[in-house]
Amino acid sequence: MNLIISGTNRERSNSIKVAQYYQQELARKGENWKILSLTELPANFSISDLYGKRSSDFEPIQKMVSDAQKFIFIIPEYNGSFPGILKLFVDACAFPASYYHKKIALVGLSSGKYGNIRGLDHFTGVCNYMRMHVLPLKIHLAKIQDELDEEQQFHDELTRKFIHEQIEEIIRF
Ligand SMILES: Cc1cc2nc3c(=O)[nH]c(=O)nc-3n(C[C@H](O)[C@H](O)[C@H](O)COP(=O)(O)O)c2cc1C
Repeated sequence: MNLIISGTNRERSNSIKVAQYYQQELARKGENWKILSLTELPANFSISDLYGKRSSDFEPIQKMVSDAQKFIFIIPEYNGSFPGILKLFVDACAFPASYYHKKIALVGLSSGKYGNIRGLDHFTGVCNYMRMHVLPLKIHLAKIQDELDEEQQFHDELTRKFIHEQIEEIIRF
């Protein structure tokens, strides 16, 4: 099953809300995608799952990644780039089997006005190194606190239009 990855382990993050929105919209189009939130990572995985080590807690996560052919990464802006926990996660995944020649769409978000433009550029470099095929249409959700309503839906029509275009493109990619 394909995977939406919520790229932070911060509890009650906006990233997980955006991930759930994408999952819901994909389901409306008959696409069954799973969410992997980095809050699900084992607490000490930087010790138990890096540099060739593998814990039984990480194994089901690795299997989800290995089984997926396509990904949507939801990536918040932390200090002008993508979160460190996301790089740690990618480094912990088996290489090259996890991501090699797989397809990925990127979504950036921030409370500030840039929607993680630079973080998605940085992460694109990482994806290219892993030989991923990055969907050219990237979404930048600036001022995310103003974008989502109380039901965690995007109320702005233009935002919804771009998100739906990206969803259509990753389905066809
Ligand atoms: C460690 C950290 C660094 C952050 N740095 C930035 C930043 O550089 N620019 C920005 O616009 N927002 C920044 N934010 C705010 C996030 O963009 C904001 O929390 C947003 O909701 C997306 O992240 P979330 O998924 O954790 O909620 C930062 C948040 C954290 C926790």
